Amino acid sequence: MSNATLDRAVKEIADEMMKRTDRGEVASYIPELARIDVNSFGLVVVDTNGHVAAAGDADTPFSIQSISKVFTLTLALGMIGDRLWERVGREPSGSPFNSIVQLERERGIPRNPFINAGAIAVTDAILSGHQPKETLGEILRFLQFLSGDSSITIDDAVAASEQRTGFRNAALANYMKSFGVLTNPVDFTLGVYFHHCAIAMSCRQLALAGRFLAHSGRNPSTGFLVVQPERARRINAIMMTCGHYDGSGEFAYRVGLPGKSGVGGGILAIAPGKASIAVWSPGLDANGNSELGRAALEILSKRLGWSIFGA
Ligand code: DON
Repeated sequence: MSNATLDRAVKEIADEMMKRTDRGEVASYIPELARIDVNSFGLVVVDTNGHVAAAGDADTPFSIQSISKVFTLTLALGMIGDRLWERVGREPSGSPFNSIVQLERERGIPRNPFINAGAIAVTDAILSGHQPKETLGEILRFLQFLSGDSSITIDDAVAASEQRTGFRNAALANYMKSFGVLTNPVDFTLGVYFHHCAIAMSCRQLALAGRFLAHSGRNPSTGFLVVQPERARRINAIMMTCGHYDGSGEFAYRVGLPGKSGVGGGILAIAPGKASIAVWSPGLDANGNSELGRAALEILSKRLGWSIFGA
């Protein structure tokens, strides 16, 4: 596909999305996120040749929220490898992202690393033996390194807003702690979790950071192997099955790409061997996933024949 074809697709889809009025609802359970303009929209595709197609609010940083869980999972697997799976499963939950119901029956082991409980367990694994500040610095530097952009920062107002109101996450963390699944002080683990969710990135930075997942684990611009091909494939598999919580089946059905959403309205989607894609539209559907983000990806994947399930 030529650069012009990709540029045109990205621009036309963004133009269409910017006109839509059915935009979903901005997340309000984290008070700071309720202030975001629901009319924002950004779309960036970075293909295997390094071409970047961008449209709309492509360079406006937004709260990546749960999309950060892809990168904490990558870091945790790098640190402790398959031992991570003793603390967290890899099955879709079929439940909302902040649900607690399965934890009692499953003895404090969260279903997967992308629901809040699972991501908190992953954060706890990365934290082990370190100070929260060091661990946060490591997560931030990893994202800066992957996107080649050292300007990425944490939005402290968003982190503080969630820290003040994150009672459900505190309940999940304490519940897991009671089963011995968390090893660090709950406050430390939650502090790191809230702050990595509050990292702010633009669609451009996010699409660049996701390149290694589209390129069998390799950062194509540096040639640096971030993870082994097998690990990239497996992270993509978990994004496909669990990346949109109880909306994962619908996302696979409509878009057909591994994807991870965040309540800031972003989605990182991977077309393996083809491209890394970031989209941002802050209005959410009932499952807490970006309404127009999914719609845009559905059109893009269909138009370019990128669904992993066939054209
Ligand atoms: O823990 C939370 O609730 C948020 N920091 C992240 C949740 C989230 O992004 C769910 N995704 N759609």
